Formats: sequence, structure tokens, C-alpha cells
Amino acid sequence: MLELKSPENERSAIHIPEEVSNLQVPFNGSFVTQDGDEYEVKNNIVDLLEKDPAFASIALSTNHWKLTASIYEDIWRKRSLSLLSGEDFPIEKEHELLIDWTAPKAGGLYLDIGASTALYARALKAAQPKADIVAVDFSTQMMDEARMKAEADETDMYLVRADARELPFFSKTFDGAVMGGTLNELSEPQKVLYEAKRVLKEDGVLFMMHLIKSDVWYGRLLQESVGIGGITFWTVPESNDLFKNSGFRVDKQITRGIVCFTRLIPA
Ligand SMILES: C[S@@+](CC[C@H](N)C(=O)[O-])C[C@H]1O[C@@H](n2cnc3c(N)ncnc32)[C@H](O)[C@@H]1O
Repeated sequence: MLELKSPENERSAIHIPEEVSNLQVPFNGSFVTQDGDEYEVKNNIVDLLEKDPAFASIALSTNHWKLTASIYEDIWRKRSLSLLSGEDFPIEKEHELLIDWTAPKAGGLYLDIGASTALYARALKAAQPKADIVAVDFSTQMMDEARMKAEADETDMYLVRADARELPFFSKTFDGAVMGGTLNELSEPQKVLYEAKRVLKEDGVLFMMHLIKSDVWYGRLLQESVGIGGITFWTVPESNDLFKNSGFRVDKQITRGIVCFTRLIPA
């Protein structure tokens, strides 16, 4: 069972039964809190947002297109790190680091924030089938695609459509959280990091993959132009200030080209 915090009343819980995470069996229905607020589950996706949030940028709005969702993982995501790091960086290598630094444990609960097609969420479940995984994104199209991919892989997980600026979980719920490339796209990164820190247990871990500012002029020029579309890049010290100001301590960090991996722990 997964316990969610109601977006309407922060002391109210919504209990989602385990069967909702079994993506082999379609689940449709609704859950009501003790205060009478009702939330729908459509095709196993728990929907806590009545409508799409207002888009703060072009980058955020494109994540709500069906076309972006359907090509994102296979056409872009799986090859992206080799292009961005300037070296051979297959997805398997990224997953190895994800699992090594997150170390999902049996009986643990893990959160993929801004999961898109739930690539990290699936990798965590594959590495530790006895852990429970929750994938959150505010794009219906991405959650639908995540559901399809997880069902095809026979991977169980909870899919929750919600806004990461107000994560629908009680404090100290998760053993670990992961964010793959999401930070750069957030309209309010500090707020999301605060939320990540709040929902993590004291001995929890946040695995972060994000893109940093390029140190060559043509790279910076390109980044400035995508910046107009709503993607932000920081230097490593700037990112680390952001993490520190959100209550995290950098435990491990490596960069490859403009790709930065960080293992963050609550300070
Ligand atoms: C770059 S993609 C993430 C990719 C994914 N984590 C991966 O590793 O492939 C960013 C995702 O974050 C989601 N997102 C952005 N802001 C969000 C917010 N405030 N709440 C929930 N999801 C958000 C977008 O819809 C998009 O799917």
C-alpha cells in the first residue's frame, strides 16, 4: 500500500492499495480521503491534478505533447549522455552508477521525481524487485508512456500524476529519490529540492543527474539559446549551492562533459 498526502488537506491521507501498482491488470476507480476529497485512478495512474499546470516554459509544455512522450526515451534519452558527455556513455553505464549510488534495498520505498517515461524507476525496480517504486510527473502524456513501458517490462510501480513543487507525500517517507535530467527543466528548482529533502528519511539518498554550464564558448551560446526555452544550466559550484540551500550535502560527485552526477544526502 502507498500512503499519499492529500493535495487539499495536508493532514489527510489517501491509501492506494498495492494492486494499483500491478500494471499487468488495469485499475480504474477513485479514492476518497476522510475529508471527502476524491481522486481518480485512470488506467493505474493516480491523478492528483485536476488539470494541467500552467506552463512556465516551452520546454515544460513540450513534455505534454504525445509525440515528445512517445519518442523521448528511445530516440533521445538513451543516446543523450554520449552526446552530452563527449564520450561513449551507454545507458547501461548510467544505470550502473544509479544503482551503485542509490543502493535500493529490499522493502525500501524509492521516488523518481519528474520521471517522464520512468527510465530510472524501472532500473531501480529491476535492480531490487523487493523495493517499492513511485514515479511522479505532471505530464499525463509522460505518465501514459511510463505506464506502457513499465507494463511491457513487467515492472510494477506506482504512477502518480502530481506537481513536484508540492510532493503528495508525508515527510520522511522515502529511502531514496532520483532525478534524471529533471532539475534543468524545473521552473522552481529550489522548491522541488526542498520537497525532495522533506520526503526523504534522515538516512535517505538523492541521486541527481543534471547538466552543467558548458566551458566552451559555442556550448555556452547553445545553452543560452535553449535557456530562452526554459532550460537552466549552472556551474558545479552554483549547483552545489542550490543543493546546500535545500538542505543537502554532496557526498559524491562526478562530471563528464556537461553531465554531472551527484549523490546527495540530507545535511
Ligand atoms: C528531462 S525530463 C526527465 C527525464 C527523466 N527523469 C529521465 O531520466 O529520463 C523532465 C520531466 O520533468 C517533468 N516536470 C517538470 N516540472 C515538473 C513538476 N513541477 N512536477 C512534476 N513533473 C515535472 C516534465 O514533465 C518532464 O517529464
